[in-house]
Amino acid sequence: ETNPFIEGLLNKMTLDEKIGQLNLPGAGDVITGQAKSSDIANKIAAGKVGGLLSLTTVEKIREVQKIAVEKSRLKIPLLFGLDVIHGYKTTFPIPLGLSTSWDIPLIEKTARMAAQEASADGINWTFSPMVDISRDPRWGRVSEGSGEDPYLGSEIAKAMVRGYQGDDLTKNNTIMSCVKHFALYGAPEAGRDYNTVDMSRIRMYNEYLPPYKAAIDAGVGTVMASFNEIDGIPATGNKWLLTDLLRKQWGFKGFVVSDYTGVNEMIAHGMGDLQTTSALALNAGLDMDMVGEGFLTTLSKSLAEGKIKIEQIDNAVRRILKAKYDLGLFDDPYKYCDVNRAKKEIFTKENRYFAREVATQSMVLLKNENQLLPLKRTGTIALIGPLANTSENMAGTWSVSTEQSKSIALLEGIREVAGKKVKIHYAKGSNLTYDAELEKRATMFGKGLNRDERSDAELLNEALEIASKADVIVAALGESSEFSGESSSRTNLEIPDAQKDLLKALLKTGKPVVLVLFTGRPLVLKEESKTVPAILNVWFPGSEAGLAVSDVLFGDVNPSGKLTATFPQNVGQIPIFYNHKNTGRPLQNKDGKFVKFTSSYIDESNEPVYPFGYGLSYTTFNYDNLQLSSDKMSGNDTIKVTVDVTNTGDFEGKEVVQLYVRDLVGSVTRPVKELKGFQKVALKKGETKSLTFSLTQEDLKFYNYDLDFVAEFGEFEVFVGGSSDTTQKATFTLE
Ligand code: IFM
Repeated sequence: ETNPFIEGLLNKMTLDEKIGQLNLPGAGDVITGQAKSSDIANKIAAGKVGGLLSLTTVEKIREVQKIAVEKSRLKIPLLFGLDVIHGYKTTFPIPLGLSTSWDIPLIEKTARMAAQEASADGINWTFSPMVDISRDPRWGRVSEGSGEDPYLGSEIAKAMVRGYQGDDLTKNNTIMSCVKHFALYGAPEAGRDYNTVDMSRIRMYNEYLPPYKAAIDAGVGTVMASFNEIDGIPATGNKWLLTDLLRKQWGFKGFVVSDYTGVNEMIAHGMGDLQTTSALALNAGLDMDMVGEGFLTTLSKSLAEGKIKIEQIDNAVRRILKAKYDLGLFDDPYKYCDVNRAKKEIFTKENRYFAREVATQSMVLLKNENQLLPLKRTGTIALIGPLANTSENMAGTWSVSTEQSKSIALLEGIREVAGKKVKIHYAKGSNLTYDAELEKRATMFGKGLNRDERSDAELLNEALEIASKADVIVAALGESSEFSGESSSRTNLEIPDAQKDLLKALLKTGKPVVLVLFTGRPLVLKEESKTVPAILNVWFPGSEAGLAVSDVLFGDVNPSGKLTATFPQNVGQIPIFYNHKNTGRPLQNKDGKFVKFTSSYIDESNEPVYPFGYGLSYTTFNYDNLQLSSDKMSGNDTIKVTVDVTNTGDFEGKEVVQLYVRDLVGSVTRPVKELKGFQKVALKKGETKSLTFSLTQEDLKFYNYDLDFVAEFGEFEVFVGGSSDTTQKATFTLE
């Protein structure tokens, strides 16, 4: 439907002003690619800018908005976009960590709070959620997504869009969301960032596209095109993707922005010069060009040469103006520029307290032999490791607004939470890695680089010295913030060398060792899963990291996180994921070990170290009495799935109860298991709760060979349990 206000404005615009609206230059704070814009103020006054990337603080944003609405001819306000990915100043765990909470209302609230803080500081547009499914932990950006599962990924995508945009975008504390990176960015060949993606349509539709669609269905205002190619054409210039699928099939009405210099990068992809790639992008359905200024500098020439049509420019302008209109910027361009809000609403005590709570919910207890955890509040603890006393590495990747130095390091947190009866000694123990060059690469523009002047032997001796006096060793090891994240692909997923040696030396002391593992991706923990008695995976917990980790270590909070991405035995198993196909020669061995002429490895089992959905608690849970309300389903029937879950241990705790379905026979091959529901329940000691899930035909649908979304008759298995490897099963038939 047409909007008279926007049409009126469009009628007044010159061609240059129209093209100007499609331009999103960078403000210069964060530069990650090839281009850097200059002379921004003059361009804004000349109507050559539609929005700004990465300008922060309410004062600066007001100043720049003023140029747009006072100096430019048509006074069109600007969008101010920023990567508000897992919080603004108050920083939550990295998105992969948020996903392991499996707590959808909690995740929605983190996005709500991020929007509240960002909008109080002038921002009206966030480049989040990142919903790229990934089954490849070599790819550094697994840290920014929700793991490997399309169902969970879709639930999280919807929650985040709701959280950012709220129910009314015209309010001054909601912001426009941008789902990214459309599409398939999480499946680069060999896990190398920006690399080629190539996959079948049937895999795309069933396994990779659902979370993007979920965000669109939830009303996300904007979409970011990804860097990778799809079917041989980069997403930024892919008409099938940006027009046929996104707009025609899915009905998306908002605007599409490139990822950074995506239009320019099509030159290196081999699609032609900047004029050609800009025309290709506009023709494909890209509306806004981030940073690279291909649109700004070439579209009028392409129009004159008949390579693009004015209607295409007009449509792109309409969509961008509509976003500004929906945000209420034409009514009040300064609506997000209230200095009082900026002072009162950002990084408050309450927000930080919430971030601490969220971080505790994201942690995954991978191992806990002899109930080594929780730690006692007596005796002596040796806290050792290069990640034990570093606030810079706590927030994790893409936390551009976090004041890193204000994040709570583990040493500080443990001192506060442990209580007076505990003695704490600290030693760094090692550098992150022996390789100084690698360490430098694994920091954000040099931030958080704390390479020690002392020799490796000196560092180790100091650590062993304090370890010898301790009752328990807490080893804070793993990745630094930027070991994962954009452009941080790895081929070796072990704990980095120097730290691995340190851990071995600590284990040799014979003292009990708790490994507090910081990581932005699934790591290869084959050895540690055997040798270390307790492992708590804390991801990058955010600004309250040290306090939250300590809350869990001392048992003030019982861990309840469950993995959302598989932890492999070794890199050679990748891609490894729970919802794989059966193959014609499946391996039936329970231990996953080799059998000749079956789909297996001669040198490694098929099993991961830790599967999707896995995570321990300080208590134990028992599952019993799995029942279906009927063993037949037809038409609009709902089958109720019930199960009794009992807390059989000594702590109260929360359990993520997961429901999986297997479609045994299909017109195309179907996965061995697919997540179709989950509930996070709190249970007191000894308490039993009977939980009910509903299944309808909708839950059984998938895209068939013709890409029709259908449910097919036949037998289905239903699995319920606390991990994807659960074997508790019931069956029904769809008639
Ligand atoms: O939003 C990001 C994207 O995820 C990676 N390239 C840059 C964009 C804007 O900062």
